[in-house]
Amino acid sequence: MITIKSPSEFAKMRVAGACVAAVHQAVREAAEPGMTTGHLDALSAKVIEERGCTPSFLGYYGYPSSICASPNSVIVHGIPGDYVLQEGDLISIDVGAIYEGYHGDAAISFGVGELSLERDRLLTTTEEAMWVGLAKAVPGNRVGDIGAAVEAVGHAAGYGVVREYVGHGIGKRMHEEPQVPNHGKAGKGMKLRTGMALCIEPMFNLGTHETAVLDDEWTVVTADGSTSCHWEHTIALTEDGPQVFTLPDGAETNLDALLAARALS
Ligand code: MF3
Ligand code: CO
Repeated sequence: MITIKSPSEFAKMRVAGACVAAVHQAVREAAEPGMTTGHLDALSAKVIEERGCTPSFLGYYGYPSSICASPNSVIVHGIPGDYVLQEGDLISIDVGAIYEGYHGDAAISFGVGELSLERDRLLTTTEEAMWVGLAKAVPGNRVGDIGAAVEAVGHAAGYGVVREYVGHGIGKRMHEEPQVPNHGKAGKGMKLRTGMALCIEPMFNLGTHETAVLDDEWTVVTADGSTSCHWEHTIALTEDGPQVFTLPDGAETNLDALLAARALS
């Protein structure tokens, strides 16, 4: 079922989203070679609590942590633990928070210390694909417009575009309809409407698009061991265009303004 949200529901999602962004900022500042991903999880749990939110991942189908920490060949759903961050790692941190029953969900990727040129290009291109997909999330467009736009960026760069894991609707539940694949045909799929909230989350691999799941039944890795990257934002579809909820407090959330700022920088 598709849920259409009211402005007051969006207001709660915005609080959850700002919490997610605060976690991302804290993790990014703290992360350094020698630190475990388990430490980043503990730090994240603290920030979520301080913000008056609850972690949505913890206990989700038995998931054991507040964040997913996915370094290098891990695409998504890496469980934080004893892994020690190394100089040159490309890691994705995926966070979900709930405020008064409403969800925010987002992932950033960043380098631990200096990244290789190859990994740095993967990082910027995957983020770019997320923004390109976001820009297609306007009322009247279709879900396939988002996927086609994301996929085109990945393919142009020669990357494997992950197909098994997709973006999604979000609201009172973390995963709602519709599914938002990172591939598709422009003009196809469900029509997008004002009041919908979506997570747009491209996952690109340096190698092929194929994935595998480790014995822990969570950790998703690239089948060929190549490096992967993941970015995600929660957005609202409004009459004024897409509004990004998972940016830090005070940050511009209007997509047109964001894209203009990025083009100038
Ligand atoms: N953020 C992920 C998504 O977008 C969900 C994490 S899975 C969990 O689908 F089990 F960790 F919650
Ligand atoms: Co998501």
